[in-house]
Amino acid sequence: QRKDALQIVNDFAQEHYKHNLWNTDAGKSIALGYLKERGFIEKTIKAFDLGYAHRDRKELTNQALQKSYKKEYLQELGLTTRNDQDFFSNRIIFPIHSLSGKPIAFAGRILHTQSKAPKYLNSPESEIYHKRKVLFGLDLARKSIRDENKCYLVEGYTDVMMMHQNGVENVVATSGTALTSDQIRLIKRYTDTIHLIFDSDAAGTKATLKAIDLILAEAMNVKILPLPEGQDPDGFIMAKGHSGFQKYAEDQLLDFLSFKIQFHDKDQGEDPVSQSELIRNILSSIALIDDGITRHLYIRETAQVMGLPEQTLVDELTIHLEKRS
Ligand code: GTP
Ligand code: MN
Ligand code: MN
Ligand code: MN
Ligand code: MN
Repeated sequence: QRKDALQIVNDFAQEHYKHNLWNTDAGKSIALGYLKERGFIEKTIKAFDLGYAHRDRKELTNQALQKSYKKEYLQELGLTTRNDQDFFSNRIIFPIHSLSGKPIAFAGRILHTQSKAPKYLNSPESEIYHKRKVLFGLDLARKSIRDENKCYLVEGYTDVMMMHQNGVENVVATSGTALTSDQIRLIKRYTDTIHLIFDSDAAGTKATLKAIDLILAEAMNVKILPLPEGQDPDGFIMAKGHSGFQKYAEDQLLDFLSFKIQFHDKDQGEDPVSQSELIRNILSSIALIDDGITRHLYIRETAQVMGLPEQTLVDELTIHLEKRS
């Protein structure tokens, strides 16, 4: 079967990249050195099957062709370019695994951020990789997600890995794409609750607001853990450690109402015009919730927090619901 043949080629590629990382001079000095400098220990690097793509753009392709793997497959998987060169060159390789732990795609991180090239490159979609339906780390996280009955959702591969290394294993990331409903439904197989920990920058805040709406629309609970300005989960948990992180999460976790209010108050005033904008924004999220009882509970909370009669909000919500249908 064609899918099996493609998987065999990606299995080969993962082994090739791992061999490069652990058993070649450039891999050990440049790539492993880089990862260790960032604070990753060997156990974590191994658990995530990280690898290294050599600078030479012929290496992987030549070895694969020698093993009689079809060039067509190498190209569909994005390992080999149209002019027969290796796609990944001088990058740390993060395999993206299926639920059963097979490498269905790869992300490659550049070693030196001063370069103009993109920080991460990703495999294209293929017959075995549909990026909208995959979450990085889910193969390793799913048991813990079920045990803890919640899933942390972060932005980056290194965020997932560093949280894992610090004993927080119920964590996944999207792989270089915006969050999709398919990905949320994947998480829903294991838990009804998602805690968002996105980078504390403009892009992360924007992504958080979008994620909230998508998660509510899938009838799941969403909470937000805002990080100190400019930080991401990787650096944060590395600095705080497991117990520091847990303590912070207990203290700082917000429901989506509080997050929207806090975020709004930061850059806008509390004048009536701005407050009504905020309330409409909250109602637009509540309107995405299918279940009428859940909607009502959120309306009640909003009314209490904002100091408004419930009926005013119900009337306004009706307008939103009519827009939706
Ligand atoms: P590190 O810098 O290695 O710690 O990665 P990061 O995850 O902190 O990177 P960043 O916060 O910049 O981006 C978050 C996620 O967005 C990454 O993990 C990638 O999945 C994705 N991403 C970032 N930059 C690029 C890029 O240049 N191209 C693509 N395709 N994805 C990117
Ligand atoms: Mn398809
Ligand atoms: Mn970022
Ligand atoms: Mn980041
Ligand atoms: Mn980072």
